[in-house]
Amino acid sequence: MFVRNAWYVAATKNEIADQMLARTILNEPIVLFVNGNQEICALEDRCCHRGAPLSLGNITETGVRCGYHGMAFDRSGKCVEIPGQTTIPARAKVKSYPLVVKGDYVWIWMGDPEKADPADVIDYPPDDQVNWPRANDMLHLKASYVMVLENLMDLSHLSYLHRTSIGSSETDSANASMDVKRTPTGMKFLRVMRNADAPKNWLKRYPTGNKVDRWSDFDYIAPNSIKQFSGGVNAGDYDAGVRDGSHLVRTLHTVTPETEKTCFYFFNKADGYAKFEAPGKPRTWASTSDVFKEDQHMLEQQQLRLNNFDVKNLMDINTDVARVQMIRVLKERLQLEQETTGQASQKT
Ligand code: FES
Ligand SMILES: [Fe+2]
Repeated sequence: MFVRNAWYVAATKNEIADQMLARTILNEPIVLFVNGNQEICALEDRCCHRGAPLSLGNITETGVRCGYHGMAFDRSGKCVEIPGQTTIPARAKVKSYPLVVKGDYVWIWMGDPEKADPADVIDYPPDDQVNWPRANDMLHLKASYVMVLENLMDLSHLSYLHRTSIGSSETDSANASMDVKRTPTGMKFLRVMRNADAPKNWLKRYPTGNKVDRWSDFDYIAPNSIKQFSGGVNAGDYDAGVRDGSHLVRTLHTVTPETEKTCFYFFNKADGYAKFEAPGKPRTWASTSDVFKEDQHMLEQQQLRLNNFDVKNLMDINTDVARVQMIRVLKERLQLEQETTGQASQKT
């Protein structure tokens, strides 16, 4: 089940800059493109004539022309031309979706268009004022979007799955302090590891000693996004209020369900440390993507084990505290939407 009344990232602006993009979102086939008037469009990718994918057609000034028998649609989804006939019936249309372009992303509203408020799109990046270098990437996962969110809300896995890259020792991880609380838009946690061993890949890059304080501030915004603010400073400096001069990142993680068991995981990272490096150095975050590929492999294998298995038979452990809260918030949001939709359909 999906929350429909929410903004999801449909694509990066780059993905649709010069081509039509066919993408399934929440089980719906959608075509995204920029029309001849330079407006971004999102239409149902299924022609109302015989069901051909509009993504196999051609972009026009106001929309798209189906590549099968040539019906043309504008960006609202209304048919504006039918070859060989002058009358265009009212039912000659395809669904169109509200969009907002913000930052690197094209956000799409999958629910009731009346409820789509552009002000609800997540404000990212939050660091525009200081202009940290930024880059984004996307992984297409054969795993549920919920599992991706659960993975992000559970940092205990860093000591095991990411042992050789960003992980801390098992002891440091077990001693981490954890503060979890609800917020108006979801929930958040602050995890701090004091006097921990610096991860191997930090020692090559940051001017900290072997012992560091590491913090992870994760803000879950239901149903699909997490704002992360993480860093590391010399041991003892965190409680003295130091937050700058070493490892420092702000990342927006946002997950868009494709189907119940597949999703698009977009991550967009701003690097505070890079501001000390020579300007103009291209940012690629290859190492970040490599770390997330370790998650991808685990999540896809986990999904295979959970297919046709009742998750009620799984168990929670102490380190699941944030993950469990996150699931509670997501379920409440789903329930609220079902109740609202139910009430709406009773009234009509
Ligand atoms: S299927 Fe699109 S015009 Fe016939
Ligand atoms: Fe991970």
